[in-house]
Amino acid sequence: MTTKKERIVSGMRPTGPLHLGHHFGVLSNWLALQEEHECFFFVADWHALTTEYADPRKIKDFVPGLVIDWIAAGLDPAKCVIFQQSQVKEHAELHLLLSMLTPVGWLERNPTYKEVAQELSGQKDLATYGFLGYPVLMCSDIILYQATAVPVGQDQLPHLELTREIARRFNYLHCPEAAPYFPEPKALLTEEAKLPGLDGRKMSKSYGNSIALGEPLEDIGPKIKTMLTDKNRLRRSDAGDPEVCNLFPYHKLLTDAALCAEIREGCAKASLGCVDCKKLLMDSLTRFLTPVHERRRALENDPERLWAILADGNARARAVAARNMETIRQTLNFSF
Ligand code: TRP
Repeated sequence: MTTKKERIVSGMRPTGPLHLGHHFGVLSNWLALQEEHECFFFVADWHALTTEYADPRKIKDFVPGLVIDWIAAGLDPAKCVIFQQSQVKEHAELHLLLSMLTPVGWLERNPTYKEVAQELSGQKDLATYGFLGYPVLMCSDIILYQATAVPVGQDQLPHLELTREIARRFNYLHCPEAAPYFPEPKALLTEEAKLPGLDGRKMSKSYGNSIALGEPLEDIGPKIKTMLTDKNRLRRSDAGDPEVCNLFPYHKLLTDAALCAEIREGCAKASLGCVDCKKLLMDSLTRFLTPVHERRRALENDPERLWAILADGNARARAVAARNMETIRQTLNFSF
C-alpha cells in the first residue's frame, strides 16, 4: 500500500456493535497498518453527538463496546495508539480555530453532508451548526497529529478532500510556502463491500443481514442455514454457479484457498450440496471467530484492563496533540 512509514489517523463513531462487514472492510486494513506504520485509532464520540445530540446516553455504552470490538479483532495497544476523541481536548480547540478559516460554502457543498442530512430528515433535525461542521472536526482529528494517510471508506472521501483544503488554507495563510505545517493527508481506500450481507445486499445492522463480531456461534448457525444460494440450483443434482451464490464470497474470505477451490469445483459439478457447503462455512466462521471471542471475553471479564488501555492511549495521543497544538497557537499568535 505504502512504503515509507506513515503517520496514520482514523476513527469510528461509537454507534453500535461491529459486524463482519466492518471487519473485512475497514478493520482488516487497520490491522495491516498497525504492523507497518505509526497509527492512532480513536473513538469519535463527539462525531456521534452530531446526530445523537438529543439522546446521547447510548454513546457512553458504545465507547467501551467499540474498543472491545477493535481489540478482539486484533488491534494491539502495544502497536498502535487507541484513544477517545473527547478525552483529548485539543481536538475541540483546533476545531474552533479551523472553523474561523473554513468558508461555509465548502461545507454546504459537501455531498456526504447533503446525503446524510437527507437520509435522516424526518427522524432528526440536522440543520445544526455542529453537523455542518462535521468535516471541520474530522479535519482537526487528522491534522492535529500531522497525519499523512487516513484509511477510510468511499463515503468519507469528500470529508478527506475538505480536510486537505482546510489544511492547505491554513498553510497558505500562516506558513512560509517552503514550510507548510500540515501535510495534506491522502486516503487509503478500503475496497468496498468485500463481504456482502446474508441476503447479498451491503451488510448493515439496519438491514438485519449482519453477523456481529461478538455474536455467539449458536446464533450464527441458523442464520447461515437460511442464506440463499444459487437460486437456479433447484435440485441437489443440478450444477451451481458460485459466482451468483450469497455464500461463496464468505468462503473466499474465510476458507483456506485449497478448500475454497474444492468448494468452487464441487458446486459447479454438483458433487457438493448447499447444505454441506454451509457446514463448511460454519467451520470456517468458527475458526475465525473463536480467537476473536476469546479476546473479547478476556476484556469483558477485566474492565479495569480495558479502561487502562484507553487511559494509556489517551495520554499518548494527548502528548502529541498538546505539543502540536502549542505550535499551532504560536503560529496564530495565540500563545500567551
Ligand atoms: N467520519 C468517520 C465515519 O463516520 C469517522 C471519523 C471521525 C474519522 N473523524 C475521523 C475517520 C478522522 C477518519 C479520520 O466513519
